[in-house]
Amino acid sequence: MTKNATFLKDVNDGLSRNPKYISSHYFYDKAGDEIFQRIMDMPEYYLTNSELEIFSGQSEKIIDSFNIDKAEEFELIELGAGDGKKTQHLLKTLIDNNFKFKYIPVDISRNSLEVITDRMENLFPDLEILPQQGDYFEVLDDLFHSDKPKVILFIGSNLGNMPDETAAQFLQKISQHLKSNEKLLLGVDLIKSKDIVLPAYNDAAGITRDFNLNLLKRINAEFGANFNLENFEHAPEYTESEGIAKSFLRSKVKQTVYIKELDKSFSFDENEAIHTEISRKYNDDILNGLVADSQLEITAKFLDSKNYFADYILTKR
Ligand code: AVJ
Repeated sequence: MTKNATFLKDVNDGLSRNPKYISSHYFYDKAGDEIFQRIMDMPEYYLTNSELEIFSGQSEKIIDSFNIDKAEEFELIELGAGDGKKTQHLLKTLIDNNFKFKYIPVDISRNSLEVITDRMENLFPDLEILPQQGDYFEVLDDLFHSDKPKVILFIGSNLGNMPDETAAQFLQKISQHLKSNEKLLLGVDLIKSKDIVLPAYNDAAGITRDFNLNLLKRINAEFGANFNLENFEHAPEYTESEGIAKSFLRSKVKQTVYIKELDKSFSFDENEAIHTEISRKYNDDILNGLVADSQLEITAKFLDSKNYFADYILTKR
């Protein structure tokens, strides 16, 4: 199935379910990538600054925890590479300390991969960069053909978009690929109070609303649907006890939406919602639970000054 056919099928299946659901996976077309860049610059979206503080202030210590032999070349594989603003601090410290490594950014978005590759080439002209386009779940198998030592980076709390069961499978898959003592650097947002977390997903300027609604815009543009964006509102939720931020698109009125490509209509009750995203927050216990069936164990943890965010080092046994 082509990428678009999978999207169409997921839209059809998801809107036929009760409750309705479409994956946040589909937020990221070109417009979605751009809106996400703006999200990362929002004052409410503390995640980026917290992790940036960790990378800019503690890169030496993070690299020490990798336990790498300077004489041997290794591969630094970044899953879901994003824009590289945080990673550049790590790369600079590695280069300044004469480590030998190749940088392998992996991203589903060609656009993002180009941005990050340009950025790193400009900053570090001598760095060897091997960008890989693809879904990181799928690309993983192709990345492990060399027997060079590896460090995997998976930062930005990207894990949080996966339900725990999927996250556990993903970590297990990474674990199976690593050799004993190799590391995964996993950056995740931590469970904390609602007054801090919820505004990050419900900013005053409405950027996150636009991000969520962009999904309906995409369906209109790609599948000839007639979603009226005025008739849906961005509805985020978070409770500290659960530790999961959830986003919904809630129908403000009773209405019917037609999707031409499916030649099918979908009806919405007033206040009926499409669930579009989960952003899980973590703590040591939750993460230990996720890696329980893998060969990974937490061997180090780096926090920002507010204890909002953590970069964990997970080592293969
Ligand atoms: C890119 C998955 C880390 O869940 O915090 C930001 C995406 N969604 N605002 C997150 C997102 C709404 C973000 N991640």
